[in-house]
Amino acid sequence: MAKILTIAKLWLFLLFVKGGSFFILTTKFKESVACDKINLKLQAAKNEGEIFMQVNEFDYYERIGNWNFDDIKCVTVRHTDWEFYDVIRAHTNATSNCLDLGTGGGEKVLEFYPEVGMVTATDFSSEMIKTANENLKKHPGKRVKFAQMDNLNMKVPNNSFDLISARHTVIHAKQIYDALVPGGVLVIEGVDQKDCWEMKELFGRGQAFNDPISIAEKDYQDLVDAGFSKIERVEILEDEYYETEDDLMALLLKAPILDDFSEFDNSDFEHKAMIEKDLFDEYVRRFKSDKGILLKRVLYGIVATK
Ligand SMILES: C[S@@+](CC[C@H](N)C(=O)[O-])C[C@H]1O[C@@H](n2cnc3c(N)ncnc32)[C@H](O)[C@@H]1O
Repeated sequence: MAKILTIAKLWLFLLFVKGGSFFILTTKFKESVACDKINLKLQAAKNEGEIFMQVNEFDYYERIGNWNFDDIKCVTVRHTDWEFYDVIRAHTNATSNCLDLGTGGGEKVLEFYPEVGMVTATDFSSEMIKTANENLKKHPGKRVKFAQMDNLNMKVPNNSFDLISARHTVIHAKQIYDALVPGGVLVIEGVDQKDCWEMKELFGRGQAFNDPISIAEKDYQDLVDAGFSKIERVEILEDEYYETEDDLMALLLKAPILDDFSEFDNSDFEHKAMIEKDLFDEYVRRFKSDKGILLKRVLYGIVATK
Protein backbone atom coordinates (compact mmCIF):
# COMPACT_ATOMS: atom_id res chain seq x y z
CA MET A 1 0.00 0.00 0.00
CA ALA A 2 2.86 2.32 0.86
CA LYS A 3 4.14 1.82 -2.67
CA ILE A 4 0.85 3.05 -4.12
CA LEU A 5 0.91 6.16 -1.96
CA THR A 6 4.42 7.09 -3.01
CA ILE A 7 3.53 7.09 -6.70
CA ALA A 8 0.59 9.49 -6.40
CA LYS A 9 1.56 12.63 -8.33
CA LEU A 10 -1.21 15.16 -8.10
CA TRP A 11 -3.78 14.42 -5.54
CA LEU A 12 -4.96 11.61 -3.44
CA PHE A 13 -8.12 11.13 -1.53
CA LEU A 14 -8.40 8.27 0.82
CA LEU A 15 -11.59 7.20 2.48
CA PHE A 16 -11.21 4.51 5.03
CA VAL A 17 -14.34 2.83 6.26
CA LYS A 18 -13.37 1.77 9.73
CA GLY A 19 -14.64 -1.54 10.88
CA GLY A 20 -16.14 -2.13 7.47
CA SER A 21 -14.74 -4.54 4.98
CA PHE A 22 -13.35 -2.14 2.45
CA PHE A 23 -11.85 1.17 1.65
CA ILE A 24 -11.99 3.26 -1.46
CA LEU A 25 -9.02 5.04 -2.83
CA THR A 26 -9.38 7.43 -5.69
CA THR A 27 -6.39 9.05 -7.29
CA LYS A 28 -5.48 11.20 -10.24
CA PHE A 29 -2.11 10.15 -11.51
CA LYS A 30 -0.92 12.22 -14.42
CA GLU A 31 2.22 10.26 -15.02
CA SER A 32 2.52 6.62 -15.74
CA VAL A 33 4.40 4.44 -13.32
CA ALA A 34 6.97 1.85 -14.18
CA CYS A 35 6.28 -0.76 -11.56
CA ASP A 36 4.63 -4.11 -11.97
CA LYS A 37 1.11 -2.89 -11.62
CA ILE A 38 -0.74 -6.18 -11.51
CA ASN A 39 1.45 -7.68 -8.84
CA LEU A 40 1.28 -4.47 -6.89
CA LYS A 41 -2.49 -4.42 -7.07
CA LEU A 42 -2.78 -8.10 -6.28
CA GLN A 43 -0.50 -7.73 -3.27
CA ALA A 44 -2.42 -4.69 -2.09
CA ALA A 45 -5.71 -6.54 -2.47
CA LYS A 46 -4.36 -9.42 -0.44
CA ASN A 47 -2.93 -7.17 2.26
CA GLU A 48 -6.03 -5.09 2.74
CA GLY A 49 -8.64 -7.79 2.37
CA GLU A 50 -10.07 -6.08 -0.66
CA ILE A 51 -9.96 -2.78 -2.48
CA PHE A 52 -9.59 -0.87 -5.16
CA MET A 53 -9.04 2.15 -7.25
CA GLN A 54 -8.77 3.22 -10.83
CA VAL A 55 -8.37 6.54 -12.51
CA ASN A 56 -9.99 8.04 -15.59
CA GLU A 57 -9.97 5.84 -18.67
CA PHE A 58 -7.03 7.44 -20.46
CA ASP A 59 -4.79 7.35 -17.38
CA TYR A 60 -5.98 3.84 -16.66
CA TYR A 61 -4.71 2.56 -20.02
CA GLU A 62 -1.56 4.69 -19.83
CA ARG A 63 -0.68 3.09 -16.53
CA ILE A 64 -1.40 -0.45 -17.66
CA GLY A 65 0.55 0.06 -20.90
CA ASN A 66 -0.26 -3.34 -22.42
CA TRP A 67 -3.21 -5.65 -22.98
CA ASN A 68 -1.39 -8.86 -22.25
CA PHE A 69 -3.05 -11.49 -20.07
CA ASP A 70 -0.60 -14.31 -20.70
CA ASP A 71 0.26 -14.62 -17.01
CA ILE A 72 -3.33 -15.43 -16.10
CA LYS A 73 -4.12 -19.12 -16.33
CA CYS A 74 -7.53 -19.65 -17.88
CA VAL A 75 -9.21 -22.05 -20.32
CA THR A 76 -11.85 -20.61 -22.66
CA VAL A 77 -14.74 -22.63 -24.11
CA ARG A 78 -16.46 -20.70 -26.89
CA HIS A 79 -20.07 -21.64 -27.60
CA THR A 80 -20.59 -19.38 -30.61
CA ASP A 81 -19.00 -20.00 -33.97
CA TRP A 82 -17.79 -16.45 -34.65
CA GLU A 83 -14.12 -15.52 -34.59
CA PHE A 84 -13.00 -11.91 -35.04
CA TYR A 85 -9.83 -12.60 -37.03
CA ASP A 86 -11.52 -15.21 -39.24
CA VAL A 87 -14.14 -12.60 -40.15
CA ILE A 88 -11.38 -10.09 -40.96
CA ARG A 89 -9.62 -12.74 -43.07
CA ALA A 90 -12.84 -13.42 -44.99
CA HIS A 91 -13.13 -9.73 -45.93
CA THR A 92 -9.51 -8.97 -46.85
CA ASN A 93 -6.82 -10.00 -49.29
CA ALA A 94 -3.07 -9.47 -49.73
CA THR A 95 -3.56 -5.86 -50.85
CA SER A 96 -6.18 -4.66 -48.36
CA ASN A 97 -5.54 -1.42 -46.51
CA CYS A 98 -6.75 -1.91 -42.91
CA LEU A 99 -7.13 0.16 -39.75
CA ASP A 100 -7.25 -1.44 -36.29
CA LEU A 101 -8.67 0.92 -33.65
CA GLY A 102 -7.83 0.74 -29.93
CA THR A 103 -5.12 -1.81 -30.65
CA GLY A 104 -3.63 -1.88 -27.14
CA GLY A 105 -0.02 -3.09 -27.09
CA GLY A 106 -0.53 -4.67 -30.51
CA GLU A 107 -0.60 -8.12 -28.91
CA LYS A 108 -3.54 -9.42 -30.95
CA VAL A 109 -2.88 -7.58 -34.22
CA LEU A 110 0.66 -8.87 -34.42
CA GLU A 111 -0.31 -12.44 -33.63
CA PHE A 112 -3.67 -12.93 -35.31
CA TYR A 113 -4.26 -10.38 -38.06
CA PRO A 114 -4.20 -11.98 -41.53
CA GLU A 115 -1.53 -10.97 -44.05
CA VAL A 116 -2.92 -7.88 -45.78
CA GLY A 117 -1.38 -4.96 -47.70
CA MET A 118 -0.96 -2.84 -44.56
CA VAL A 119 -2.54 -2.52 -41.11
CA THR A 120 -2.41 0.86 -39.42
CA ALA A 121 -2.99 0.05 -35.77
CA THR A 122 -3.87 2.94 -33.45
CA ASP A 123 -4.47 3.68 -29.79
CA PHE A 124 -4.90 6.90 -27.82
CA SER A 125 -2.43 5.74 -25.17
CA SER A 126 1.20 6.58 -25.88
CA GLU A 127 2.27 3.83 -23.47
CA MET A 128 0.27 1.27 -25.45
CA ILE A 129 1.87 2.45 -28.69
CA LYS A 130 5.30 2.27 -27.07
CA THR A 131 4.61 -1.34 -26.04
CA ALA A 132 3.23 -2.10 -29.51
CA ASN A 133 6.40 -0.84 -31.21
CA GLU A 134 8.46 -2.99 -28.84
CA ASN A 135 6.26 -6.02 -29.66
CA LEU A 136 6.62 -5.29 -33.38
CA LYS A 137 10.33 -6.09 -33.13
CA LYS A 138 9.35 -9.72 -32.36
CA HIS A 139 7.37 -9.87 -35.63
CA PRO A 140 9.78 -8.79 -38.36
CA GLY A 141 8.12 -8.58 -41.75
CA LYS A 142 4.60 -8.13 -40.37
CA ARG A 143 3.00 -5.29 -42.33
CA VAL A 144 1.72 -3.33 -39.33
CA LYS A 145 2.47 0.26 -38.34
CA PHE A 146 1.43 1.78 -35.02
CA ALA A 147 0.29 5.33 -34.42
CA GLN A 148 -1.37 7.30 -31.63
CA MET A 149 -4.94 8.35 -32.39
CA ASP A 150 -8.19 8.94 -30.51
CA ASN A 151 -11.02 6.76 -31.88
CA LEU A 152 -13.43 9.58 -31.18
CA ASN A 153 -11.37 12.12 -33.12
CA MET A 154 -9.98 10.09 -36.00
CA LYS A 155 -7.30 11.78 -38.09
CA VAL A 156 -7.38 9.70 -41.25
CA PRO A 157 -8.30 10.58 -44.84
CA ASN A 158 -11.83 9.87 -46.05
CA ASN A 159 -12.45 6.84 -48.29
CA SER A 160 -9.09 5.28 -47.50
CA PHE A 161 -9.53 1.92 -45.73
CA ASP A 162 -10.89 -1.34 -47.13
CA LEU A 163 -11.53 -2.68 -43.64
CA ILE A 164 -11.61 -1.17 -40.16
CA SER A 165 -11.49 -3.39 -37.09
CA ALA A 166 -12.25 -2.53 -33.48
CA ARG A 167 -11.89 -5.14 -30.76
CA HIS A 168 -13.05 -4.28 -27.24
CA THR A 169 -12.76 -0.55 -27.72
CA VAL A 170 -14.91 2.53 -28.22
CA ILE A 171 -15.95 3.57 -31.74
CA HIS A 172 -17.34 6.58 -33.59
CA ALA A 173 -19.66 5.15 -36.25
CA LYS A 174 -19.79 8.19 -38.56
CA GLN A 175 -16.02 8.78 -38.55
CA ILE A 176 -15.47 5.11 -39.39
CA TYR A 177 -18.04 5.33 -42.17
CA ASP A 178 -16.22 8.32 -43.69
CA ALA A 179 -12.82 6.58 -43.46
CA LEU A 180 -13.98 3.44 -45.32
CA VAL A 181 -13.91 3.13 -49.10
CA PRO A 182 -17.32 2.51 -50.70
CA GLY A 183 -18.14 -1.15 -50.01
CA GLY A 184 -15.57 -1.18 -47.18
CA VAL A 185 -16.24 -3.27 -44.08
CA LEU A 186 -16.22 -2.60 -40.35
CA VAL A 187 -15.66 -5.55 -38.00
CA ILE A 188 -16.31 -5.11 -34.28
CA GLU A 189 -16.00 -7.41 -31.31
CA GLY A 190 -17.28 -5.83 -28.12
CA VAL A 191 -17.98 -6.66 -24.51
CA ASP A 192 -21.70 -6.71 -23.86
CA GLN A 193 -23.64 -5.45 -20.86
CA LYS A 194 -24.49 -9.03 -19.84
CA ASP A 195 -20.80 -9.96 -19.74
CA CYS A 196 -19.86 -11.51 -16.35
CA TRP A 197 -23.45 -10.83 -15.27
CA GLU A 198 -23.48 -13.25 -12.32
CA MET A 199 -20.46 -11.48 -10.88
CA LYS A 200 -21.86 -7.99 -11.54
CA GLU A 201 -25.13 -8.97 -9.85
CA LEU A 202 -23.31 -10.29 -6.80
CA PHE A 203 -21.23 -7.11 -6.48
CA GLY A 204 -24.17 -4.89 -7.49
CA ARG A 205 -22.12 -2.97 -10.01
CA GLY A 206 -19.86 -3.28 -13.03
CA GLN A 207 -19.13 -2.17 -16.56
CA ALA A 208 -22.41 -0.89 -18.09
CA PHE A 209 -24.37 -2.50 -15.20
CA ASN A 210 -26.91 0.33 -15.01
CA ASP A 211 -26.98 1.35 -18.67
CA PRO A 212 -30.50 1.59 -20.15
CA ILE A 213 -29.56 -0.37 -23.28
CA SER A 214 -26.63 -2.59 -24.11
CA ILE A 215 -23.59 -1.21 -25.90
CA ALA A 216 -24.28 -3.72 -28.70
CA GLU A 217 -27.67 -2.12 -29.30
CA LYS A 218 -26.15 1.36 -29.18
CA ASP A 219 -23.38 0.43 -31.65
CA TYR A 220 -25.99 -1.10 -33.94
CA GLN A 221 -28.19 2.00 -33.87
CA ASP A 222 -25.19 4.32 -34.39
CA LEU A 223 -24.14 2.29 -37.43
CA VAL A 224 -27.63 2.52 -38.90
CA ASP A 225 -27.64 6.28 -38.31
CA ALA A 226 -24.17 6.64 -39.86
CA GLY A 227 -25.50 5.14 -43.10
CA PHE A 228 -24.06 1.60 -43.20
CA SER A 229 -26.03 -0.43 -45.75
CA LYS A 230 -25.74 -3.94 -44.34
CA ILE A 231 -25.24 -4.71 -40.65
CA GLU A 232 -25.00 -8.18 -39.12
CA ARG A 233 -24.86 -8.65 -35.38
CA VAL A 234 -24.17 -11.79 -33.38
CA GLU A 235 -24.12 -12.58 -29.66
CA ILE A 236 -20.99 -14.46 -28.62
CA LEU A 237 -21.11 -16.70 -25.57
CA GLU A 238 -18.09 -18.20 -23.91
CA ASP A 239 -17.12 -19.77 -20.61
CA GLU A 240 -13.78 -19.00 -19.02
CA TYR A 241 -12.39 -21.28 -16.31
CA TYR A 242 -9.74 -19.64 -14.09
CA GLU A 243 -7.24 -22.07 -12.65
CA THR A 244 -6.92 -20.40 -9.24
CA GLU A 245 -8.43 -17.56 -7.21
CA ASP A 246 -5.28 -15.54 -7.85
CA ASP A 247 -5.82 -15.88 -11.60
CA LEU A 248 -9.38 -14.60 -11.33
CA MET A 249 -8.39 -11.79 -8.97
CA ALA A 250 -5.57 -10.75 -11.33
CA LEU A 251 -8.12 -10.45 -14.13
CA LEU A 252 -10.49 -8.34 -12.02
CA LEU A 253 -7.69 -6.04 -10.94
CA LYS A 254 -6.49 -5.47 -14.49
CA ALA A 255 -9.66 -5.45 -16.61
CA PRO A 256 -12.41 -2.94 -15.74
CA ILE A 257 -15.15 -5.59 -15.37
CA LEU A 258 -16.26 -4.46 -11.92
CA ASP A 259 -15.60 -0.78 -12.46
CA ASP A 260 -18.89 1.00 -12.13
CA PHE A 261 -19.08 3.11 -15.23
CA SER A 262 -21.49 3.75 -18.03
CA GLU A 263 -20.66 2.97 -21.65
CA PHE A 264 -22.69 6.03 -22.62
CA ASP A 265 -21.02 8.76 -20.65
CA ASN A 266 -17.30 8.58 -21.25
CA SER A 267 -16.74 12.32 -21.24
CA ASP A 268 -15.72 12.59 -17.62
CA PHE A 269 -15.70 9.24 -16.00
CA GLU A 270 -13.43 7.84 -13.40
CA HIS A 271 -12.92 4.16 -12.99
CA LYS A 272 -13.41 2.98 -9.47
CA ALA A 273 -13.21 -0.64 -8.59
CA MET A 274 -13.36 -2.39 -5.29
CA ILE A 275 -12.87 -6.08 -4.97
CA GLU A 276 -14.52 -6.89 -1.67
CA LYS A 277 -13.04 -10.10 -0.38
CA ASP A 278 -16.25 -11.47 1.14
CA LEU A 279 -18.10 -11.08 -2.19
CA PHE A 280 -15.15 -12.45 -4.13
CA ASP A 281 -15.06 -15.51 -1.85
CA GLU A 282 -18.80 -15.98 -2.29
CA TYR A 283 -18.43 -15.85 -6.09
CA VAL A 284 -15.64 -18.42 -5.96
CA ARG A 285 -17.75 -20.66 -3.71
CA ARG A 286 -20.65 -20.55 -6.19
CA PHE A 287 -18.67 -20.96 -9.41
CA LYS A 288 -15.76 -23.22 -8.52
CA SER A 289 -15.75 -26.56 -10.34
CA ASP A 290 -13.32 -29.27 -11.37
CA LYS A 291 -12.53 -27.24 -14.50
CA GLY A 292 -11.69 -24.07 -12.55
CA ILE A 293 -13.62 -20.95 -11.48
CA LEU A 294 -16.24 -20.18 -14.10
CA LEU A 295 -16.75 -16.71 -15.54
CA LYS A 296 -19.52 -16.47 -18.15
CA ARG A 297 -18.57 -14.03 -20.90
CA VAL A 298 -21.06 -12.35 -23.24
CA LEU A 299 -19.56 -10.52 -26.21
CA TYR A 300 -20.99 -9.30 -29.49
CA GLY A 301 -19.74 -9.25 -33.02
CA ILE A 302 -20.77 -6.82 -35.77
CA VAL A 303 -19.97 -6.78 -39.46
CA ALA A 304 -21.16 -3.64 -41.25
CA THR A 305 -20.70 -2.70 -44.91
CA LYS A 306 -20.51 0.88 -46.20
C1 LIG B 1 -9.72 -3.49 -23.77
S1 LIG B 1 -8.31 -2.86 -24.62
C2 LIG B 1 -8.37 -3.81 -26.14
C3 LIG B 1 -7.05 -3.85 -26.86
C4 LIG B 1 -7.05 -4.67 -28.16
N1 LIG B 1 -7.99 -4.15 -29.14
C5 LIG B 1 -7.37 -6.11 -27.89
O1 LIG B 1 -8.45 -6.57 -28.26
O2 LIG B 1 -6.52 -6.81 -27.29
C6 LIG B 1 -8.97 -1.27 -25.12
C7 LIG B 1 -7.96 -0.40 -25.82
O3 LIG B 1 -8.66 0.70 -26.40
C8 LIG B 1 -7.92 1.87 -26.15
N2 LIG B 1 -8.85 3.01 -26.15
C9 LIG B 1 -9.86 3.27 -25.29
N3 LIG B 1 -10.48 4.41 -25.63
C10 LIG B 1 -9.86 4.87 -26.74
C11 LIG B 1 -10.05 6.01 -27.56
N4 LIG B 1 -11.00 6.92 -27.31
N5 LIG B 1 -9.24 6.17 -28.62
C12 LIG B 1 -8.27 5.27 -28.88
N6 LIG B 1 -8.01 4.18 -28.13
C13 LIG B 1 -8.82 3.98 -27.07
C14 LIG B 1 -7.23 1.65 -24.83
O4 LIG B 1 -6.08 2.44 -24.66
C15 LIG B 1 -6.90 0.17 -24.90
O5 LIG B 1 -5.62 -0.05 -25.44
